[in-house]
Amino acid sequence: MLVIALCKGRFLEPSLAMLTRAGIPFSDDVASSRKLIFESEDKRYRAILVKPADVPTYVEYGAADAGIAGRDVLMESCADVLQPLDLNFGYCKIAVAGPVGTHSIIGSDHPTIRVATKYPRITMDYYNARGIPVEIIPLSGSIELAPLIGLADRIVDLVETGRTLKENGLEVLEVIAESSARLLINRAGYQTKREEVRGLIQSLEKAVQ
Ligand code: PRP
Repeated sequence: MLVIALCKGRFLEPSLAMLTRAGIPFSDDVASSRKLIFESEDKRYRAILVKPADVPTYVEYGAADAGIAGRDVLMESCADVLQPLDLNFGYCKIAVAGPVGTHSIIGSDHPTIRVATKYPRITMDYYNARGIPVEIIPLSGSIELAPLIGLADRIVDLVETGRTLKENGLEVLEVIAESSARLLINRAGYQTKREEVRGLIQSLEKAVQ
């Protein structure tokens, strides 16, 4: 039985829909139940529900053979996993945002820019590559609040519809990367469970098309 790590939260329903299209249906109560482990209707797959940022860890260590997570999560984790497939859902941007009309803050009276984010690695890499000194303020949610109450000058966060930014008087200042859902595969399993893992990749490839 192959184990697939799925993100709890907004990725869960589209991930289950994608698996159903690939011929791997799970029971209807996955999204509503508090259980964390489910078997597919044909008993060939087991889905485990984990926090998005933990999906690469489960796959890298082989606790899951495969996983579905956003590119944002993969960029932040640097986990050593295979990424054979863009699943073409969950489109969003990883962006720098700040209060509307504050583009000029960098290089003026703020020698070090304070950036709140749940992506410290992506943020550090982005500013280091531009030679801009940065202080990272690590947060795990409601990132948009930070510039509104003086905790940070900027945020680096996901932007999907842009509604959260807009309703909080913020705007995108720079786009760091585009993101979408990716299939992750454990490296060792790709060899040792060759047939099953390749079968999963092929089924998902067809579902994506
Ligand atoms: C994500 C992200 C933004 C928001 C973007 O947060 O961190 O806050 O969605 O979506 P939008 O552009 O469509 O408004 P999430 O809802 O995952 O909650 P969080 O604040 O706990 O990170």
